[in-house]
Parts: sequence; structure tokens; C-alpha cells
Amino acid sequence: MASSPALVSWLVLVLTLAMAVSTTQVEAARAFFVFGDSLVDNGNNNYLATTARADSPPYGIDTPSRRPTGRFSNGKNIPDFISEALGSEPLLPYLSPALNGDRLLVGANFASAGIGILNDTGIQFINIIRMFRQFEYFQEYQGRLANLIGTTEAQRIVSEALVLITVGGNDFVNNYFLVPFSARSRQFSLPDYVRYLISEYRKLLMRLYELGARKVLVTGTGPLGCVPAELAMRSPNGQCAAELQRAAGLFNPQLVQMINGLNSDLGANVFIAANTQQQTNDFISNPRAFGFTTSKIACCGQGPYNGLGLCTVASNLCPNRDLYAFWDPFHPSEKANRIIVNMILRGSTNYMSPMNLSTLLALDTIPGT
Ligand SMILES: *[C@@H]1O[C@H](CO)[C@@H](O)[C@H](O)[C@H]1NC(C)=O
Ligand SMILES: *[C@@H]1O[C@H](CO)[C@@H](O)[C@H](O)[C@H]1NC(C)=O
Repeated sequence: MASSPALVSWLVLVLTLAMAVSTTQVEAARAFFVFGDSLVDNGNNNYLATTARADSPPYGIDTPSRRPTGRFSNGKNIPDFISEALGSEPLLPYLSPALNGDRLLVGANFASAGIGILNDTGIQFINIIRMFRQFEYFQEYQGRLANLIGTTEAQRIVSEALVLITVGGNDFVNNYFLVPFSARSRQFSLPDYVRYLISEYRKLLMRLYELGARKVLVTGTGPLGCVPAELAMRSPNGQCAAELQRAAGLFNPQLVQMINGLNSDLGANVFIAANTQQQTNDFISNPRAFGFTTSKIACCGQGPYNGLGLCTVASNLCPNRDLYAFWDPFHPSEKANRIIVNMILRGSTNYMSPMNLSTLLALDTIPGT
């Protein structure tokens, strides 16, 4: 079906205006909660004694203050662009002392760089907030919200909220493939490990459901073998690292399958899956189509592809971050994050299963709790 872009944007404008007049002026934006790893951490790790942190320059170089925020980006990250789409201010990290009073109504970000689906992922980072702990904080948050506005309202806010969970990449990069002959790789073949991860991920998603989440966006892993760090460590010829690509290729389709099964068990489309592998593949195979000059070299880093070590003040730093798909050896640039969120919001079923985020948000069925 070919519709002209002008017509589509006109329709979007009309729909947006119609929604704006049909909702009362005082109605607050939908709350938003975020769980997961460094791709979505807004700065919780700033408050922890851990080595997994992004609180020194040049992180945050493209923010208004040009100062680091704890996000693993030159500017905004995926949750920030989703907050914009919801019409909300950016989320505060749950550990921020500024998260108090009415700020609680906006939601909270519980994510922590370095964590994985499994408890033993990221042990080298020492003090990080593992998934079960992120969920404990979510329970604690709900208690604080109930103290502010009462239990019934608090439950309504949680059930209508959007939840984002991004986890799994570290279970490969910072666990199974961290060192040759890692404990997990001696215990499991790769296909068995992926099956184990998916069954543990299912438990995490069920736990979120038990905690009241009813609109949950789940992202898969990106093309793990193509990030500048893996090109630098594992690829003499610039090809994406085969074993990590195989891992992502096994993980992502099984994640979608698991989510479809979960939705049919629950009798509702509670979970939607973003095929971030397909999305990132697009700009890895054709960076120029998205305005990038490279999707192999990180903007900030050192060594081959700027892929070795950390991004620090001593690293190479590109002058124009918008030309790079990767900001540092592992994390997308602000520009790439914006493109990813656009696909999450408006993408076809190649990218989003069973529907995209705008469609999910428009379905305003409020399931009984
Ligand atoms: C992770 O740790 C938590 C808390 O100790 C525990 O409840 C959970 O079962 C553990 N998960 C796995 C997969 O071992
Ligand atoms: C995705 O979102 C757009 C805009 O909200 C919508 O028109 C479109 O039908 C959706 N696509 C699918 C496959 O759900």
C-alpha cells in the first residue's frame, strides 16, 4: 500500500490534534518505567560503587549542559526518545534523590549497566542492580506512589503505564563469551544456553506482569557481533564476529516466539517485541541510507574501529556524532537511538511484533487488575 509521506504526516497531525482536544487538559501523560542494562540506564550506576558507569566526559557531550548524565550516549538514549513520544519529561534514575513527590507520577528508570537476565552476568562490575533487585525497587516505588495518591490510583497508574525492558546482550558479551571456556560455555552449548536464557527471561516478564505491568515493550539484542568492540577483538577482516551473530540470530526469534506464547497464555497483548536486530542490521548494512558515514567505527574510543577499552577524555573523539551509528564501542549514538525509537513507534511487523508501539498505546483497553 503506497501512501504519500505528506498524506501520512497530515493524518498523524490531525489524529494528534483530535487526541489533544478529546483528552482533558489536566490529564497527565502516561507513566513510564524502564528496566534493563546500559542501553537504557539513565544514571542509576552513578550512585553505585561499580566500574560500569558513564559519568565522565565525553559522555553527554551533546546534551544542553554538555555534561555526562550517566547515560551511555553522547546525548539522549532510547528511553529519552520514548519519553518524548509520550509527552513526558525524561525519567529520573530510581536511585536519584530528586525522584520525590509529583516526580514519582512520571515514572522511574530502574536500569543498571552491566546486568543480564542471569544473576551471574556482569559479576566483574561488582555492585550493579540485578533484575530481581530492579523489581524489588519497582515494588518499593509502588509503595511510595500509593503513599502519595492512594493504592487504587497507584495501581491504575501502573497498569496504564508503558514499561520498557532491555536485557540479554550482556548474557552473551559479559558472560558466555567474556572469556574463552567461560563457566557458562562449558556448561551449555550455545543453542542450549539461548533456550535457558529465554526460559529465565519468561520468568522475568511474568514477574513484571505480577507487579502490575500491562503494556510492556521488550527489545531483543542488537547484532552483537557487529559492534565496534567485537570488530576490534574478534574480526581481523572487518566482518561481524560470527559466534556472536549466531547468538543474536538464535536469541531474537525465540524471544518473539516466547512473547507470542506469553500473550496467548494471558489472553491479551501485554507484551510487544522490538526486533532491534533487524533495526540495527539496517543501518549496519546500509549506514548511508540513515545519514551515517560509518557503522563500524565508534565515535569515541581507541584501537581498531575505536573499539578497544573505554570511551574517556583521552580517547579519539569524532567531531560530528550524527555521522556515527555507534557512540562508543558498545552503544549507539543519539542519532541511532532516535532512529531505533522511530522504528519502535511506527515500524511495520518486520520490526515490531505483534504490533508497533503507537498501535499499542492507542489500544486503551484497561485490563482488570
Ligand atoms: C537470582 O537471584 C535471586 C535473588 O537471590 C533469586 O530469587 C533468583 O531465583 C535468581 N535467579 C536465578 C536464575 O538463579
Ligand atoms: C505502525 O504505526 C503506524 C503509525 O502509528 C500505523 O499507521 C501502522 O499501521 C502501524 N503498522 C503496523 C504494522 O502495525
